[in-house]
Amino acid sequence: MKIILTGGAGYIGSHTSVQLIRNGYDIVIADNFSNSKPEALRRIEKLVGMSVPFYKIDIADKEALSELFEAEKPDCVIHFAGLKSVGESVRMPVEYYRNNIDTTLTLLETMKEYGCKKLIFSSSATVYGDPASVPITEDMPVGKCSNPYGRTKYFIEEILRDVSKADPTLSIVILRYFNPTGADESGLLCEDPNGIPNNLMPYIMKVAVGRLPRLSVFGNDYPTHDGTGVRDYIHVVDLADGHVAAVAYADSHEGVETINLGTGNGYSVLDVVHGFEKACGHEVPYVIAPRREGDIAECYASPDKAKALLNWEAKHNIDDMCRDSWNAISKNPDGYPAD
Ligand code: NAD
Ligand code: UD1
Repeated sequence: MKIILTGGAGYIGSHTSVQLIRNGYDIVIADNFSNSKPEALRRIEKLVGMSVPFYKIDIADKEALSELFEAEKPDCVIHFAGLKSVGESVRMPVEYYRNNIDTTLTLLETMKEYGCKKLIFSSSATVYGDPASVPITEDMPVGKCSNPYGRTKYFIEEILRDVSKADPTLSIVILRYFNPTGADESGLLCEDPNGIPNNLMPYIMKVAVGRLPRLSVFGNDYPTHDGTGVRDYIHVVDLADGHVAAVAYADSHEGVETINLGTGNGYSVLDVVHGFEKACGHEVPYVIAPRREGDIAECYASPDKAKALLNWEAKHNIDDMCRDSWNAISKNPDGYPAD
């Protein structure tokens, strides 16, 4: 089966590319490098020992996308391409709606034109907003997102449900990721955020490697075991394997399914800090700071549906995530080199 990965040069896409190739799939990567670098492709190729077809295109560019479909005739698309910074989305909502929704609509039109029926979409646990209870199951209410980024994911999910209703022969899998972290154990692939990171693990990594002075822990008065926010951190290689399982599922089913990809375990900010200290062998300095607007106390997945439908479950624990994150940042303290 041939699979196009939009945004395949990014953090999750690059890891998924490697896992798909390791599982015998033919892949094609399409990316405009708006949040990634060509070096990611060279690292993927080094890891799998073969060259990987690549198209530098904007997925919202209809002509360029049609040329790609014409040349490659894909059976399936995994749609990672999108802008993902919550803070930036608050400052630049139009760019976020334009990019995330346009890429999806252009992709859906092109898939229809070329008879490509299988789509896996990168959604996020952020669509659940502040959940009434944990663990979060897929049937819990969605849509009360605290920012434009989250709303793009929610709107795209709704679009995909409409599209599936109109053409029930399509096979669409919406994956709601919890908090992806870690890296391939080689340390060749890394998360390479532009500027100062917003997310916890990339921030801790920059502090541990001496690029930032200290972490600010956003609030220690939440109703959690140590007062700091609890999340479901999931190793990016487990997440990538979840996509391999979703591709197999999409190949044998029709309709739309929405599936959480998480571990089912919640760890607090301080649990992660201490886990990272164990991995890197030195202290990670932090201060307690005020809560961050829009944050919730606790969020972790019910992984039961993923287990039932995809026969997939996460294998790595928080120590593995910290070890592999430390290995990756130690080998790439300034991210990938620019071309
Ligand atoms: P990333 O920024 O590393 O990767 C996204 C890739 O898409 C980048 O390489 C970027 O250059 C590319 N891209 C963006 N717009 C494009 C366009 N118009 N045309 C072509 N390429 C384009 O992000 P990631 O962490 O790998 O996330 C992948 C997907 O998963 C995103 O849709 C993101 O919103 C979603 N997601 C990520 C997380 C997370 O914490 N990383 C959590 C939930 C959901
Ligand atoms: C954030 C986004 C969410 C997105 C997800 C993955 C917000 C409000 N939500 O979720 O939409 O899908 O990232 O990209 O931004 N923390 C600190 N100090 C820091 C950074 C984070 O204490 O410097 C804490 C946070 O308060 C939270 C936890 O660490 O309790 C995890 O934060 P983060 O990695 O940003 O993920 P989410 O808040 O789950």
